[in-house]
Order: sequence, then structure tokens, then C-alpha cells
Amino acid sequence: MPRHDVRVYDDIFEMMPSEENPTPLVRVRNSLPDESEYRLYAKLEWLNPLGSVKDRAAWQMVQDLEARGEIGNGRGIVEPTSGNTGFSMAALASARGHHMKAVVPNKVPAEKKILLKMAGAELDVVNDELCPAPGLGDGSINLAKTHAKAQRDRYVMPNQYENVQNMEAHVRTTGPEIWRQTEGKITHFFTSLGTCGTVSGTSKYLKSKNPDIRVIAVQPSEGHDVPGVRNVSQLEVTKLFDPDLIDEILEIDFELAYVRAVELLQKDGLRAGPSSGLIFEGARQILQREGQGAGVGVMIFCDDVFKYTSNLVKHLPELGQGLEP
Ligand SMILES: Cc1ncc(COP(=O)(O)O)c(C=O)c1O
Repeated sequence: MPRHDVRVYDDIFEMMPSEENPTPLVRVRNSLPDESEYRLYAKLEWLNPLGSVKDRAAWQMVQDLEARGEIGNGRGIVEPTSGNTGFSMAALASARGHHMKAVVPNKVPAEKKILLKMAGAELDVVNDELCPAPGLGDGSINLAKTHAKAQRDRYVMPNQYENVQNMEAHVRTTGPEIWRQTEGKITHFFTSLGTCGTVSGTSKYLKSKNPDIRVIAVQPSEGHDVPGVRNVSQLEVTKLFDPDLIDEILEIDFELAYVRAVELLQKDGLRAGPSSGLIFEGARQILQREGQGAGVGVMIFCDDVFKYTSNLVKHLPELGQGLEP
């Protein structure tokens, strides 16, 4: 049995998040305009073992493939991914003894490709002209599908965009964690849209407990470059988007994602990445619009800012000044 009280584990898998071992909720105070009765919490997903919310989906998909005998005995994984899912999945699969091929568009920065290799993935780099920043292009998705079809004995494609296990991970873990951590008092759930596993799974669980909980999905304005998230206009690729599980989709000027990420670090000591900055701005706008009452809001802070400093400098050039003697 994992010893969560003293945090001593036999392996990384015992450390995966669960109702008994939740990622922390930390109240955000100083970055909010006024001190208020409303309690707004950030759920710090970067404290997952591989550093992002995607550990949940990746681990659930790997476990499901193992349980169904789809991987093992020389058969591994092929997945079109360059971001958090790829890194989590490659590291978890490798540590379980499975091989993985990541199909990655050429435009993905070298740093991310190197991280995937470090995590044990073999890379298939494609000239994916369809690759929209910040997501993957249809070309990479189709190529991964082709590999899975042509080499059935060597690969299976989990396909995070269509795999219900991605959503199930959040029904099983994120939802119950939040319900328990807020003692059932949550009134607002704020998250973003990527594969939509997080919003659909967490909402499904929370609304089964209390249908009045408001689920707000925050999306960046069109033309954005916020890594990991999508505008509704970019959602054709995912089958996990269910508008019935979302009360409001709130669009935010994407530049604010970067501004708020820096503010969260300076004012609240939270090393939040741009998608967390986006979600935080969404929560701020809802609180401003609706007044602050005595509610309890929970925001998913998907990952931390460490891998995004070059994205930040593009938007906040002053961060790049004064770096030379
Ligand atoms: C940084 C970041 N934020 C948000 C998301 C969105 O999560 P989901 O795919 O569950 O919608 C992702 C997903 O990859 C991500 O990497």
C-alpha cells in the first residue's frame, strides 16, 4: 500500500494522483483584485510525477492497454504528440517496459523533441504543414494512424483525442479529489479545452454530485499560440468535447495568458504556465462580472512555466532584456 502520509513509495506509479493522494489546492489571493469572501483555488497539476495534468490521462490509457493485453510482448505505442501527453506517456510506458513512437511535426521546438527522446520515445518527425500552433496537425495524426494500421503487431495508438480513458481518468481522479478537497462546497470549476478530457471527465463527476456546479471552459482568442489548449474552432479533432457538460465557454485575449502567468509567480509564488494564466484570467472575469459572494472556485493549473520561457519572451519582450553583461 502506498504510504501517502510520509510520501514513501515503491515506484513512481504508486505516486499517481488519486482521491487519497490528490494534487494540492492552493488559494490564490494576491493576484486577485480585492480580498474577498470567495475562495479561489488553483489545483497544482505540475506536482504530478511527470509534471502535468496529462499524467492522469497517460497513465489511465497505458493501464487500460495493459489490462486489455493491447501492449506488451513487443507491441508498444504510437501516438501523435509533442507536448505533455507525449512526455508522460513515453516516460510511463518506458518505465513499464513498453516502447513508444511519437509522431511529431517538424515545427515542434528541438527542446520538446529531445525531452521525448530522453523519456524513451523513438521520434518520427514529419513535415506537417497543417500543424496549427500550438496543436498537432492532421498530418501527424493520420501518419500515426497509418503506422498503427500497417504495423499492427508492433504498435497500438491510444489516441488521446478519441480515447474515453482520457476522460475516464478525470472521472476517477480529478473529480473525486476536488469534491473531497472542497468538502463538496465547490461552486465553480474553471478549466481549458485541449483534448477536452479534463473538462468532460471532471465535469461529469462533479455534476453527478451537484448539478448546480458551474463549469467554465476558458478558451484563447483565435490566432493564439498558447501551448496545449484550443479555441472551439480547433476542436474538430477531438471526440471528447461535450457541450452539455460545459455551462459557459469564455473567450480571453490570449496575450493575457502570458501576463497572468507572470503575475501569478510574482504575487502568489505560483509557477503557473500560460494555460494556467489563461484559466486564471477567465476566473477573474467571471468573479468581476458576477460579484464575489461566498463561492468556492477551483482552477486546473495544468503545468508549470519552466518549459515556456521562450514563449513568454515573445509576448513580454522586457523579460528578454538585460540578460547580457
Ligand atoms: C499545458 C496544457 N494545458 C491544458 C491542456 C488541456 O487538457 P485536456 O487535453 O485534458 O483538454 C493540455 C493538454 O495537453 C496542456 O498540455
